Amino acid sequence: MDALDVHLNGSYLDATFGRGGHAALILKRLGPDGLLIALDCDPDAIVFAETRFSGDSRLKPVHCNFSEIGACVRQYAPGGQVNDILLDLGVSSPQLDNAERGFSFRQDGPLDMRMDPSVGEPASGWLARVESDELVRVLKQYGEERYARRIALAVVEARSEQPILKTRQLAEIVQRAMPAGAVRPDRIHPATRTFQAIRIAVNAELEMLHAALEAAIGVLAPGGRLVVISFHSLEDRIVKQAIRAASKPPPANRRMPSAPGFIATLRPVGSLIRPTDEEAGRNPRARSARMRVAERIGTSPSGGQP
Ligand SMILES: C[S@@+](CC[C@H](N)C(=O)[O-])C[C@H]1O[C@@H](n2cnc3c(N)ncnc32)[C@H](O)[C@@H]1O
Repeated sequence: MDALDVHLNGSYLDATFGRGGHAALILKRLGPDGLLIALDCDPDAIVFAETRFSGDSRLKPVHCNFSEIGACVRQYAPGGQVNDILLDLGVSSPQLDNAERGFSFRQDGPLDMRMDPSVGEPASGWLARVESDELVRVLKQYGEERYARRIALAVVEARSEQPILKTRQLAEIVQRAMPAGAVRPDRIHPATRTFQAIRIAVNAELEMLHAALEAAIGVLAPGGRLVVISFHSLEDRIVKQAIRAASKPPPANRRMPSAPGFIATLRPVGSLIRPTDEEAGRNPRARSARMRVAERIGTSPSGGQP
């Protein structure tokens, strides 16, 4: 909230509404003429927003992917720009806790994992057709899974016998594929990295994040803040690089000793923020959170000077 710097009658975008924890706090600081666009690609989140904040005309719930931030802000915000944008990435607790959404192997459910079940293909469909080499790449890159090849082989073998349709079924295949010493009760469940990797692939999470960051810079008002909370190093690297690319010219090389015409559009605010041990103890799901903040500088999206 401090990083967002909410003013009474400004326009704000919560691009990952979830269940409105952040949105409720933003609304508390917002005056009667302020605007908060609450975006989420999960239809359940939007139904929740419409119900919980039904009497509050300052809140505009929008069902869309945050890669469409540009079009969304141009449609709903006065002047086509907002003062601050918040991205709190990943899955929400209700998505994780609802077995029907297929994000977790703690309870059995259909292997879906789509943030927006109205588009795309469920994880079970993706897993039924993905080539073995592509599965290895996904598990290595998105899950940083050292046993990627063993797991991919086990998946290919299992799916030749029967389709992999349930979360527990996949978790057991992964567990069986692990070498004996790698499964220890004091470590994270052996399927954790595989589930993360498949979820990232099914939702094209990294591509969507790239698109969102680029679009966000385009619709932030000068002086506006971009606040991004990510939950693993792949996302954080993308955020860090996007802020760097918008704030500093690319490093000089022999072919291009200086970047011609580079104009900075962001200024980093502070450095990486991690939860304290006390916060991670109180809220274990915040354990891996990393927050970065940047401020929009330069001309406004409409071309005027700040
Ligand atoms: C960690 S939760 C946000 C929790 C929220 N800040 C709160 O206080 O309740 C992330 C949310 O982002 C949504 N989300 C993830 N990827 C998205 C995308 N590409 N476009 C739009 N929403 C997305 C998820 O559906 C989920 O509801």
